[in-house]
Amino acid sequence: GNVLDVLADGEVPSRPHSGGELAAFRERIAEPARPAYHLTPPANWLNDPNGLIRWNGRYHVFYQYNPAGPMHGTIHWGHATSEDLVHWEDEPVALSPSPDGPDRDGCWSGCAIDDGGTATILYTGGRGPVQLPCRATATDPELRTWAKDPDNPVIDEAPEDVVGSEHWEAEFRDHCIWYADGLWHHLIGSGITDAGGAVFYYTSPDLREWEYVGPLLVGDGETGAMWECPELLDLGDRDLLHVSNYEEVVYFLGEFTDNEFHPDERGLLDYGDFYAPQSLFEDDRSLTWGWLTEARDESAQWDAGWSGALSLPRELTYEDGHLRQRPAPDLEGLREAHTRREVDLEAEAYRLDVDGRHLELDATIHIGDAVEIELAVLESPDGVERTPIRVTDGELVVERETSSLDERVTTTPQRMPIDDLEGPIELRAFVDGSVLELFVNERRCLTSRVYPTREDSVGVSLAAHGGSARVELDAWTLGSAWDTGATAGRKRD
Ligand code: FRU
Repeated sequence: GNVLDVLADGEVPSRPHSGGELAAFRERIAEPARPAYHLTPPANWLNDPNGLIRWNGRYHVFYQYNPAGPMHGTIHWGHATSEDLVHWEDEPVALSPSPDGPDRDGCWSGCAIDDGGTATILYTGGRGPVQLPCRATATDPELRTWAKDPDNPVIDEAPEDVVGSEHWEAEFRDHCIWYADGLWHHLIGSGITDAGGAVFYYTSPDLREWEYVGPLLVGDGETGAMWECPELLDLGDRDLLHVSNYEEVVYFLGEFTDNEFHPDERGLLDYGDFYAPQSLFEDDRSLTWGWLTEARDESAQWDAGWSGALSLPRELTYEDGHLRQRPAPDLEGLREAHTRREVDLEAEAYRLDVDGRHLELDATIHIGDAVEIELAVLESPDGVERTPIRVTDGELVVERETSSLDERVTTTPQRMPIDDLEGPIELRAFVDGSVLELFVNERRCLTSRVYPTREDSVGVSLAAHGGSARVELDAWTLGSAWDTGATAGRKRD
């Protein structure tokens, strides 16, 4: 059903709904394209992951949420929690705009920190053409309710020379905060007129009074005029700064020193539909989620009743001179039935006896003398609907021409270079309704949105073209993250 059927009498669930009510929304919005183990909103709209934090033994993921429908609008913070990173529960909406506040028109992206035992968030308040940082503190141990600082906004204006736009006096938003050497350190996304995207750097003794230190990094224009959602990660030997520039997530590897970031390498965190990532920090690792944008038009999103998913949590590390990206090992907890196949491929396509819309496929591909290997997923028995992943020596391509019978979807192929990777291609593919999240050699990612419409578009096949090749493949069916049944475990109020 669509959103209108779900929200009875034009009701808008912006006020705290119980987890049980949200679970009921989730249950009523089912379609072949709905992911089972990637985070999605119970209904309506999701964009950036926000406020990621582990608190009292649970993982908390907040996200940009519009309760009024599956489109961007007046943004609240949605909320989901998990004990094991695998099974999730919908929580009531955590943060809503205050009618008279600096966040009147939206509680935009921000981050969470532990301020001496108090869970605290800094987020962007939007009011008319102004966007400024606001602070709120949790008033309950489950992080369901938040008290806003009466002195919001905590920074009164953006630095000079900041880019503006048709709608905004100054593009000045999104927050990354950490504590070191007796001070809070704070990054905000922006751009400098006639220069390029920029990250501004502030410090504070108490998260309330902020001092502007200067730009941490200013782009040369080649990476966009405005940078959103900046984040700095300490990867041991290197530091990594990533920014989102309306199209892609650009990362810089380099060194953060003397109040500036000195990049010496640049790349893309993902070559597909992945945007505005943010990380959760634990003692010994960090986990990064991104927003998986839709690739179908507004009417299709309205019919579906939901929009937007989050990626799997990824571990980003720097090893052997390279950035590495791996799905969190915790996700192995989703695995159900397992099959292993070692296949010598000639011209014939090989249909695997693994079926499903929610799968993990781990393939080791020896290209041999073939020109190309094709792994097709979400394939109907007659081959009419199918999404081929083509692997050649130099490139991986996700073809979307036949991935959906719905005409409202994007059909352009997505490409990722793999010519500089050593050894056989290790492809880990996570198939989940309309999400296809690919990890190659634990180095590069391409996340694609595809929308199979047919109930029987669940097949997997392999083929080699122009020669012979060998593929070793482990396949698992994966379980669901959501227990939407009446037996839902934790006590809810
Ligand atoms: C990125 C972004 C952020 C902003 C939020 C608004 O997708 O535009 O810059 O805070 O989304 O929802």
